[in-house]
Amino acid sequence: MVDLIQKKKQKQELSQEEIDWLIRGYARQEIPEYQMSAFLMAVCFTGMTAQERLFLTQAMVRSGETIDLSQIEGIKVDKHSTGGVGDKTSLILGPLVAAAGVPVAKMSGRGLGFTGGTLDKLEAIDGMKVEIAMKDFIQQVNDIKLSIIGQSQDLAPADKYLYALRDVTATVESIPLIASSIMSKKLAAGADAIVLDVKFGNGAFMKTLDDARELARTMVEIGKDAGKKTAALLTDMNQPLGFAIGNALEVKEAIETLKGNGPKDLQELVLRLGAWMLVLAGKSETPEAAYDTLSGILDSGAALSTFKEFVKRQGGDVSQIDDPAKLPTARQTVPVISDQEGFVKSIGAQSIGVAAMTIGAGRATKEDSIDMAVGIVLLKKVGDRIAKGDALALLHVNGQDCQEALRMSRSAYCIQEAPVSAPTLIYDIIS
Ligand code: URA
Repeated sequence: MVDLIQKKKQKQELSQEEIDWLIRGYARQEIPEYQMSAFLMAVCFTGMTAQERLFLTQAMVRSGETIDLSQIEGIKVDKHSTGGVGDKTSLILGPLVAAAGVPVAKMSGRGLGFTGGTLDKLEAIDGMKVEIAMKDFIQQVNDIKLSIIGQSQDLAPADKYLYALRDVTATVESIPLIASSIMSKKLAAGADAIVLDVKFGNGAFMKTLDDARELARTMVEIGKDAGKKTAALLTDMNQPLGFAIGNALEVKEAIETLKGNGPKDLQELVLRLGAWMLVLAGKSETPEAAYDTLSGILDSGAALSTFKEFVKRQGGDVSQIDDPAKLPTARQTVPVISDQEGFVKSIGAQSIGVAAMTIGAGRATKEDSIDMAVGIVLLKKVGDRIAKGDALALLHVNGQDCQEALRMSRSAYCIQEAPVSAPTLIYDIIS
């Protein structure tokens, strides 16, 4: 191990055999944390070559089980978002792409910090089961083209151990380490092709467009080198996506979007990501043609029907989809009032996410429970004109103390005198 740390420190390239040895040894707890920490820090400073990144990703895939989706007919395309506030795209994208005939066999996670993950959001629907046996999961995708379940605990376990170590040794922020971490889980999940939504901005993991672009390029390259068609969209997270933040509130917004009445930014992002999923699945020649196909499906109500079928198959209460007022609903709403006039310049997505967490929409630690009904609904977004005394957002609460959330939400809004043009949503596509 000392030789490998030394080699990396001197910016030399490690072989596949060396990287395999390193990952296997760490996963078996044969390599101590202090040596792995030194190695990770060397990677932070000297980087990794394309070959090393691929070998690292593949070694982490081999550390656990790989999901075999070969029993599902058709080309399976997965989508991954690097994470943002108000990101409920999977709830809409899954049924939309499935309604276009592309099988969606998706494994999702729970959120930690900010708001819940896709699984938490789905569990806002009464009875919804997200732990399903693999054979039933596969059967459901063959029958209705869609299932979303919890991620297997044994997917890329070496990444789990390494990530925990990176978290406490200031070695998370390294593009080769982030890219191989994300891609190891995606490759192990078994899809044939992958569409990545790489977000940047104040509410995202990547704060600048340049860093997000480099991460996207690195992940696309790993995907391609591993034999999977991969594309990445670089998208804005300088304000939350859509209006709703909080589990049941996000499900309600997803239902509205499936009915064609969703927020413009959310609908546009879903259509653009979905279009690339159709292209990679070989269903459409171009993203433009795929976009038109998906718009037609959304207008026809077919995506909403697929969502209801999916909820029914996984034990959820479909009457809550027909009548979203039956979903968990908070007892009170408290407005966030503007003491300024002007135009919204930006909305600190991270502050809004943390504000929602403080009233119970997300977990600060793994053990915390979530109140499905609570959250924040934005009433104003970037570019909107504001008068003094206008409500900027509504906090949905169930008697929780919301003073801190009110303060954080108010200060998340940056308001200026001069008009602000509507922000760009999609900055680039790397394919
Ligand atoms: N998300 C991951 O899964 N891994 C990282 O390294 C960073 C973010």
